[in-house]
Amino acid sequence: MKILIIGGHGTIGKKVADHFNKNHDVIVGGRSQGDVQIDIADSNSIHSTLESIGELDAILCIAGEAKWDEFDTMTEEDFYIGIKSKLMGQVNLVRIGRNYLNSGGSITLSTGILADDPVPLTTSAAMVNGALHSFVKALELELKNDIRVNVVSLGLVEDSYEKYKDFFPGHIPISMEKVVNAYVRSVEGKESGQVIRVYE
Ligand SMILES: NC(=O)c1ccc[n+]([C@@H]2O[C@H](COP(=O)([O-])OP(=O)(O)OC[C@H]3O[C@@H](n4cnc5c(N)ncnc54)[C@H](OP(=O)(O)O)[C@@H]3O)[C@@H](O)[C@H]2O)c1
Repeated sequence: MKILIIGGHGTIGKKVADHFNKNHDVIVGGRSQGDVQIDIADSNSIHSTLESIGELDAILCIAGEAKWDEFDTMTEEDFYIGIKSKLMGQVNLVRIGRNYLNSGGSITLSTGILADDPVPLTTSAAMVNGALHSFVKALELELKNDIRVNVVSLGLVEDSYEKYKDFFPGHIPISMEKVVNAYVRSVEGKESGQVIRVYE
């Protein structure tokens, strides 16, 4: 399979890219690093990068940002960071990316446990994650050409545990093997319209 992994240089993305690289043709995308430059917050960038690559069998998005802060201090603009990047970035990736997929191809998006189990400071991140879960369920009713779209929703992953553990008291770090397998399930399985939750 020819697979584009956006965010394939990130903490999660590099483990996923290493795995798929063993048996597939992997192209890594990101704003500053990778084989191709792409910014999911900019539809023109999505379009031009996909146009330069051509047909794909799978697109994985393991990228997207949202601002973490106290609700009391969050401005409207602060909320738009997550809406523009993590939410609409991934919606636009599906909207544009499906036209570059071979029949039977798949798109896998990324969210996280905050959609179901938020912690303080995450009104924006939780909101966009939850919106993406609803998006893939509704999208499934309209997908054509055997194209599949799923979202992988992870708990705090092992490789980020030290950095974020104080925000997630009592949460169990998800092994990187389980993380990789969630993406394998979406790409190599037959499911569509699913939120693949891995929270423990
Ligand atoms: N780490 C966790 O425990 C965890 C748990 C659940 C969910 N998640 C979610 O999973 C995703 C990846 O997390 P991570 O910890 O691996 O993050 P990370 O280490 O910060 O890596 C993010 C990657 O995405 C790329 N990226 C960021 N914004 C982008 C954009 N607008 N367009 C294209 N590429 C972009 C970055 O590269 P450039 O800077 O070069 O663009 C980087 O390679 C995030 O959405 C995060 O919220 C993470």
